[in-house]
Amino acid sequence: MFRPEDIRGEFPILNEKVYGKPLVYLDNGATAQKPRCVIERVAELYRSENANIHRGVHYLSERCTALYEDARLTVAEALGTPDTGEVIFTAGATASLNTVAYTWGEVSVGEGDNVVVSEMEHHSNIVPWQMLCQRRGASLRVLPFDDEGALRMELLEDLVDERTRVVAVTQASNTLGTMPNLKPIIDRAHSVGAVVVVDGCQGFVHSEVNVRELGCDFYAFSSHKLYGPNGVGVLYGRRELLEKMPPFLGGGDMVKRVTFEKTTYADLPLKFEAGTANYIDAIGLAEAIKFLRGVDRGGVLAHEKALLDYATEELGKVEGLRIYGTTEDKCSIVSFNVEGVHNFDLGSVLDRSGVAIRTGAHCADPVMAHYGVQGMARASFGMYNTMAEVDALVAAVRKAVRMLKG
Ligand code: ALA
Repeated sequence: MFRPEDIRGEFPILNEKVYGKPLVYLDNGATAQKPRCVIERVAELYRSENANIHRGVHYLSERCTALYEDARLTVAEALGTPDTGEVIFTAGATASLNTVAYTWGEVSVGEGDNVVVSEMEHHSNIVPWQMLCQRRGASLRVLPFDDEGALRMELLEDLVDERTRVVAVTQASNTLGTMPNLKPIIDRAHSVGAVVVVDGCQGFVHSEVNVRELGCDFYAFSSHKLYGPNGVGVLYGRRELLEKMPPFLGGGDMVKRVTFEKTTYADLPLKFEAGTANYIDAIGLAEAIKFLRGVDRGGVLAHEKALLDYATEELGKVEGLRIYGTTEDKCSIVSFNVEGVHNFDLGSVLDRSGVAIRTGAHCADPVMAHYGVQGMARASFGMYNTMAEVDALVAAVRKAVRMLKG
């Protein structure tokens, strides 16, 4: 059985105090804290193993290259693809999504076509598509959600039509926590020949993923939300599509041969990895994945669900508090507002109690617009959070409400 107490000691930052109070870190949706093995692996690489990859015949270069390609294999296994050519390291999920919009988008979306996004997307899965539509004379369509935070699947059939080229949807909303049922979306998109791009930033952390079984065409995630280092992410794409796509960035490592007349591109995945890759953090990401392999994943997911249920129940008892996103199928994210209290003020008072949450629009302006609010407070739980920390959150919220409404 998984107990957060068994792994908390692996996360040094959790011992920190803020304003003399124990840190209660509930901003995991923004970035998760890193286990010691990840911190130490990255430090060790810089301390004694660092050299640029794919470029040298010397010992360290070859060693780092091997470690980087091993990291790719680890990520491929975690995603459920046997083909490492389908795993591209990027600067993060935003870079992954933009890569698809600028490459697959450019070759497949034309005047009069449409791209469908859901209303609950993070800006990084809206803006690249909006920019693409502007460039190509296509239109952006929106699959809305209802007030509980469920996608209105009954509209799918009409929204996704024979002019739809791309459907971009999140696996888990960073604000509502909703984990939409992706299967019918993928089936509908494929029935009209559209590709499906899944933003897995939050979803990959809170569920088991197998991209081949899921059947999506592209899948993006960031390392830093998965207990790995910042500054690196992944784009999974089906080989058949990646082969057809032009490169995104041009530069070193993504070419076979360059002359002033013509350049030929490297094979997958390097075609999409121009410049010196962030190999250190990619290797750190692999370390995070190995760490996750070493814990009882089913137990972690059950624990996160228990945190979510307890927080939902206890926060729900606070007078005037409204939770946004109340569907059954949620990951451990609770966004809320308290009537008459500004979310920034709430967050500031919580901070003074040592409780770190996110406030504001969460890079999801359309979600705020849906509910007619400027922002929300959001607690997002990770594997190391405890029931006692939920109690601390609720106590801090009650205290803040007394102060701010008082
Ligand atoms: N996308 C991150 C969040 O939801 C930063 O907080």
